[in-house]
Amino acid sequence: MRRPLVIGNWKLNGSTHMLKEITTSLRNALKMVEGCSVAIAPPVMYLDQARRALTGSEIALGAQNVDIKLSGAFTGDISADMLKDIGAKYIIIGHSDRRIYHKENDEAIAKKFSVVQSVGLIPVLCIGETKRENEDGKTKEVCARQLDAILNTLGTIAIKNSVIAYEPLWAIGTGKSATPLQAQSVHKFIRDYIAQYDANITSKLIIQYGGSVNDKNAAALFAQPDIDGALVGSASLKADLFSAIVTAAAKAKKVI
Ligand code: PGA
Repeated sequence: MRRPLVIGNWKLNGSTHMLKEITTSLRNALKMVEGCSVAIAPPVMYLDQARRALTGSEIALGAQNVDIKLSGAFTGDISADMLKDIGAKYIIIGHSDRRIYHKENDEAIAKKFSVVQSVGLIPVLCIGETKRENEDGKTKEVCARQLDAILNTLGTIAIKNSVIAYEPLWAIGTGKSATPLQAQSVHKFIRDYIAQYDANITSKLIIQYGGSVNDKNAAALFAQPDIDGALVGSASLKADLFSAIVTAAAKAKKVI
């Protein structure tokens, strides 16, 4: 059984006050919850505060973006080395917000994936189709293309120390999650697609679902065999909802 992983993606939300409140609540609520890895990815300027607030807990840190360069004259950018230095573990790559608002293409995302791994951090690769692509029956084709961007440039081995997050764009921030069966079918496709090259890697690969996961739908999603946790947006901004999602993951994947 794979150990599930739940990551909270705060996006452009938060403050020093909110970080203090949420980390305090999460530490308490998750103290007794075993069997699920957890991370929060607040905006980068709060990472140091988060690291201090979470010292001694099992809650890890994530970042929402990284530059492709490690250092140099790149005004406004943050490098993988810096994220490592500040204590981040998981780096979200290729989120649809970045693909859409910052025009990040598959090539740039592959470079980010590579630089994150080069410093020993774990890329969380977001893939997923738009509403239109979904309606046109192109979901698997789009996911395969986004996976190929990594597989064809970095090789199957690159997938080994990574996490995949299937996030259908039509489900993100809409309150309308994919159904457990819809998501399971794409997750299985992703696992099988990579397994063509190396089945050993995929049996251990964490494939998260993301898109309107909340305390109500989490258990049914996690009951599916290929859904190994979640990348959570808005529900990660409320400690009680986020802890309920983590608890649901731990319960669903419990080794009996
Ligand atoms: P959501 O966001 O949970 O608010 O839908 C998920 C994500 O974008 O990672």
